[in-house]
Amino acid sequence: MRVIQFTAALGFVGTVFSQSSTVDSFIAAESPIAKAGLLANIGPSGSKSAGAKAGVVIASPSTVNPNYLYTWIRDSSLVFKTIIDQYTLGTDSSLRGQIDNFINAESIIQQVSNPSGTISTGGLGEPKFNIDETAFTGSWGRPQRDGPALRSTAMITFANWLLDNNNSTFVTNTLWPIIKLDLDYVANSWNQTSFDLWEEISSSSFFTTAVQHRSLREGSALATRIGQTSVVSGYNTQADNVLCFLQSYWNPSAGYVTANTGGGRSGKDSNTILASIHTWDIAAGCDAATFQPCSDKALSNLKVYVDSFRSIYPINSGIASTSAVATGRYPEDVYFNGNPWYLCTLAVAEQLYDALLTWNSVGSITVTSTSLPFFQQFSSSITAGTYASSTSTYSTLTAAIKTYADGFVAIVAKYTPSAGGLAEQFDKSSGAALSAADLTWSYASALTAFGARAGVITASWGAKGVKVPTTCAPNAGPTVTATFNVQATTQLGENIYITGSVGALQNWSPDNALLLSSANYPTWSLNVTLPASTSIEYKYIRKLYGQVTWESDPNNQVTTPASGGIVQNDTWR
Ligand SMILES: *[C@@H]1O[C@H](CO)[C@@H](O)[C@H](O)[C@H]1NC(C)=O
Ligand SMILES: *[C@@H]1O[C@H](CO)[C@@H](O)[C@H](O)[C@H]1NC(C)=O
Ligand SMILES: *[C@@H]1O[C@H](CO)[C@@H](O)[C@H](O)[C@H]1NC(C)=O
Ligand SMILES: *[C@@H]1O[C@H](CO)[C@@H](O)[C@H](O)[C@H]1NC(C)=O
Ligand SMILES: *[C@@H]1O[C@H](CO)[C@@H](O)[C@H](O)[C@H]1NC(C)=O
Repeated sequence: MRVIQFTAALGFVGTVFSQSSTVDSFIAAESPIAKAGLLANIGPSGSKSAGAKAGVVIASPSTVNPNYLYTWIRDSSLVFKTIIDQYTLGTDSSLRGQIDNFINAESIIQQVSNPSGTISTGGLGEPKFNIDETAFTGSWGRPQRDGPALRSTAMITFANWLLDNNNSTFVTNTLWPIIKLDLDYVANSWNQTSFDLWEEISSSSFFTTAVQHRSLREGSALATRIGQTSVVSGYNTQADNVLCFLQSYWNPSAGYVTANTGGGRSGKDSNTILASIHTWDIAAGCDAATFQPCSDKALSNLKVYVDSFRSIYPINSGIASTSAVATGRYPEDVYFNGNPWYLCTLAVAEQLYDALLTWNSVGSITVTSTSLPFFQQFSSSITAGTYASSTSTYSTLTAAIKTYADGFVAIVAKYTPSAGGLAEQFDKSSGAALSAADLTWSYASALTAFGARAGVITASWGAKGVKVPTTCAPNAGPTVTATFNVQATTQLGENIYITGSVGALQNWSPDNALLLSSANYPTWSLNVTLPASTSIEYKYIRKLYGQVTWESDPNNQVTTPASGGIVQNDTWR
């Protein structure tokens, strides 16, 4: 077994441990520090979060370089998912008041009008708020559409526990209205662009899509459970559409998940590891449609992601190509010069621990041509096939993968300052803690990674047996019906067409423009299905024996509603 010297957190200077006892010791020392660090950052009584309202999670107490004294919906929801899991799994019964505070705080924040909109016009996509629950009005990468999905997932987990414990009144009267607002938002807007979780790229993002899929699935199941059946088929339809779209991020030739549809980077990104651990459902086994931690795609992706950091961080130099290294958000990162992050390195360990738990539950490991390069790190002679838990191959692989996973925790142990505080990053050259101190998400990531290593299995969310539709709807998002009427006198042989800024209006193509009916001449009309909640520009054109005449500028503009229909009554210009 590889021997690593780790002394910092425990102060046993000069003592050499095996890696696994090093990791055991680190976890024993760090767990209470991480838990206390997390709770210190939650208002009203957290010791480092003065000024935060009850249930508000600050991202970090750091106010300069960087200023993170705000509350992000994503970070708060992931932190409270951790707290809700600890409470509902019986690990810590003292957390109920915190959960009640969180629900109350989020019910207030949901209603706060902000630069993304009001509660009914997109405000739920606002990524961060001031810690007194008022809107943050500075410029920012908005909207970020993962927040409502993650918040509903945290609350649905609590709701299911309450239902198991005879408290359906609170679920139906208090939780469901909050959850439904978020899920309606997800169902209506998942197919629109969003800033990614690192707040840098506006496109579609794997993490966002994956957590949106999860929230709609478990939201539909919760709705069924409490008799709110009117939303069920709509959520299921959109969950299928989201799952279909999720598959498109997979890059088969390179064997990894491209994290964002935009941004112009390699697409190798911790985004994808985080998606896998936050959508883990042990009941789904190693299903690749939902990129479960032990799926061949997620394992192949993990290897490609980890390998992308081997040569770019000086602290990783000299580490064997099959051993753990420090990992960051994505290899092209330049924030603070681009460094490893605690939560990213821990997420790799967590995905591997989740995989080990799932293989144990399935009773075998299946190696496919997709996951072969991952498994060859642990056995150079391995071939594709299924290895039952009774075989020596299974034992060899799981032992080696456990050691590999522990290696990532050992890296974090090595670069955690002696007092145990977890900042956002650690320096790629010196290993010193860097950027925001006491990052709440770093503490949550330590608790969930340690939990997975100790065998904690979080509640299933319905990933088992989901099927990717055989064909993805071309305009998969929700739609509305639109009628375009335009008054236009024409000469014999001349017809009126429409084209515009969306696929449904042929993307400004005069050749493919849609013909209007002259049945009510001089009113020309067309019924067409358009994407909901979308700002659309369009123009009418005339065609006379192939000769095209456009309407004069500017373009006509309409924003479609979330549901229902619109009628546009225009006059040719
Ligand atoms: C919930 O109520 C049912 C019926 O009254 C009872 O049998 C069950 O023990 C209760 N469960 C809990 C967790 O309180
Ligand atoms: C149901 O849960 C809520 C939220 O934690 C709590 O305030 C309420 O007292 C509970 N009701 C019962 C009957 O346990
Ligand atoms: C919307 O969904 C379609 C069909 O899955 C997909 O091709 C398109 O990229 C999606 N757009 C966004 C912004 O998610
Ligand atoms: C559009 O739909 C309405 C309602 O179904 C129908 O009355 C009308 O004739 C349709 N118009 C065209 C041009 O097809
Ligand atoms: C367009 O005209 C129809 C009747 O032809 C009317 O019902 C509708 O309200 C009008 N729409 C707008 C936006 O003016």
